[in-house]
Amino acid sequence: MARLISHSDYFVICTAALVLAISCETCASTQPPASFFIFGDSTVDAGNNNYINTIPIMKANYTPYGESYFERPTGRFSDGLVAVDFIAEYAGLPLIPPFLQPSAEFIHGVNFASGGAGVLPETNQGLVIDLQTQIEYFEDVRVSLKQKLGKAKARKLIKKAVYFISIGSNDYLGGYVLGNPQVRIDYNPEQYVAMVIGNLTEKIQLLYRKGGRRFGFLSLCSLGCIPILRDLNPNANKGGCFEQASALAQAHNKALKIVLAKLERQLKGFKYSNYNLYDWLLHRINHPSHYGFKDGIDACCGSGPFGGNFTCGKAPSYQLCDNPKYHVFWDSFHPSQALYEQLAKSLWNGHPPTLGPYNVRELFHAKKR
Ligand SMILES: *[C@@H]1O[C@H](CO)[C@@H](O)[C@H](O)[C@H]1NC(C)=O
Ligand SMILES: *[C@@H]1O[C@H](CO)[C@@H](O)[C@H](O)[C@H]1NC(C)=O
Repeated sequence: MARLISHSDYFVICTAALVLAISCETCASTQPPASFFIFGDSTVDAGNNNYINTIPIMKANYTPYGESYFERPTGRFSDGLVAVDFIAEYAGLPLIPPFLQPSAEFIHGVNFASGGAGVLPETNQGLVIDLQTQIEYFEDVRVSLKQKLGKAKARKLIKKAVYFISIGSNDYLGGYVLGNPQVRIDYNPEQYVAMVIGNLTEKIQLLYRKGGRRFGFLSLCSLGCIPILRDLNPNANKGGCFEQASALAQAHNKALKIVLAKLERQLKGFKYSNYNLYDWLLHRINHPSHYGFKDGIDACCGSGPFGGNFTCGKAPSYQLCDNPKYHVFWDSFHPSQALYEQLAKSLWNGHPPTLGPYNVRELFHAKKR
């Protein structure tokens, strides 16, 4: 006869599962964790822009950036860590260093991301490390791994590694909605999305040809709801989300989903994890208290309405909240460390339909070579 599982039974089952998980972790620990290669924009940059010649708003090398974790700025566009830092920790890896950091150790992976970067080379051209260049840097690393480890070992490392890509927001924000009006004349939204996705597809195929097999993607959030776009919203409902930007993000996510399913069919051994960040973030913006936040709308650090004016850390005048962990947004563009931690947990453990076909934990632990 069936019976309901009582609370105490549930506790026992959970504990058993936990013990199993721990013992399994130890038995697997003879093998080092898969390496982690990161590509993208400020959502994942760990400090590459500290080393390039660019304008001040493309860097996060001043206080109060980093205050919640490092107690100093590191170049991360966050009050502390970003999502890929948490993922590295969950995977049993140290913090993954920026490619441009002098004498960094690349054996566990490399972070190639650059704040402001886009898929298209035109996006913030000359001010960032664009995606094509990030992949050229990866090629340098691949060559040096071959020299260091030998061809066979390097090939295995490259194949087992997880490639995480978080990019696209800047193509739509700086490149389209807020950019040179000529772009909006030359391309309608559908054409522009197709161009971004077309270029992104080529880059994924290129990384696959270089040996990459396991890919994690971060789709775009409800872009129109970040503080700076609420502030710049030209529509009558000032303070509401800037719908044109959100619509582009949704179109991008829809197209990305289709492309990834197609690549999975075409490319042998291609495994991926794709997360629909759009609704995930919107829930937190609209119901912050359900997720441990007090404010889902205003940036902790910035000025003007919603803290939407990107003045964080720029003396003499900007506002800084008492505790960034209660804010979804850290500055006018970027989430707080607290939000990134929730995001990393969702990416690591999530399941369909919001995330799939694999979650990031499964990408790291996939057995089949
Ligand atoms: C990639 O972007 C360029 C503009 O930088 C565009 O001309 C080209 O058509 C795009 N490629 C694809 C495959 O969409
Ligand atoms: C943002 O702040 C700066 C410095 O305080 C000010 O000069 C500028 O007008 C503000 N911009 C907007 C859009 O509010």
